[in-house]
Amino acid sequence: NPLAVVVPAAGVGKRMKTSCPKQYLKIAQSTILEHTVLKLLSHPRITQVIIALGEADEYFPDTQLANHTDVRIVTGGQERVDSVLAGLKAIDSSRFPWVLVHDAARPCVTLSDIEKLIDACLNAQQGGILALPVRDTMKRSEDSMVTETVERDNLWHALTPQMFPSELLIQAIEQAISSGAMITDEASAIEFAGGQCQLVEGSSENIKITRPDDLALAEFILTKQQSINDS
Ligand code: CTP
Ligand code: MG
Repeated sequence: NPLAVVVPAAGVGKRMKTSCPKQYLKIAQSTILEHTVLKLLSHPRITQVIIALGEADEYFPDTQLANHTDVRIVTGGQERVDSVLAGLKAIDSSRFPWVLVHDAARPCVTLSDIEKLIDACLNAQQGGILALPVRDTMKRSEDSMVTETVERDNLWHALTPQMFPSELLIQAIEQAISSGAMITDEASAIEFAGGQCQLVEGSSENIKITRPDDLALAEFILTKQQSINDS
């Protein structure tokens, strides 16, 4: 079966502190959004990408994605989850029974990680997410004072892509939204609905460009990936 990917790209990038939303900042010749979407479409199983754009987006028409036959756009919403839901609703779930969701702000995801997640989900017929084991010792705090050291062995960073059956994910997100639950990724909606989600260990190269310093790091990673062709 072919796969569709929803790419939420309707954020304003507040923490990045640039005037244009961070997904339109350039690394080498291309915007972050172009790097991300073209990487996804270079995977042989991914045949459609639905990008959720900000209501007032004025940058997308100037990208190489604007007239791309495998790219569709929808208008995103207030929170990331609203943007993801708008994208999911635009998918024909009979044609795409499984869907991936991937942050526009993660251009450094590797093709091998995408492959690993897809294989794990289809083999187990079980939704899942790329994730990274926590390395540092973790502390819980109150007023900047440590109250507790948190057991690290079972802690993971949740990355994207995240992959689930399309209809299950839509239902879970709608249920979570209507209950007012805090949904920061697709897995949290699935968990809220009582569903299962497997963790697939990904690469630490798959950073989310969040703060100004991340731009140089992402450029370094992308250049390295291109030079040794391991993306
Ligand atoms: N996103 C979205 N719709 C929103 C908010 C976020 O589609 N209402 C997207 C962002 O464009 C980004 C991804 O979700 O690709 C991850 O969110 P984040 O890294 O937090 O991006 P921003 O919300 O843009 O950044 P900030 O939180 O610093 O404002
Ligand atoms: Mg945000």
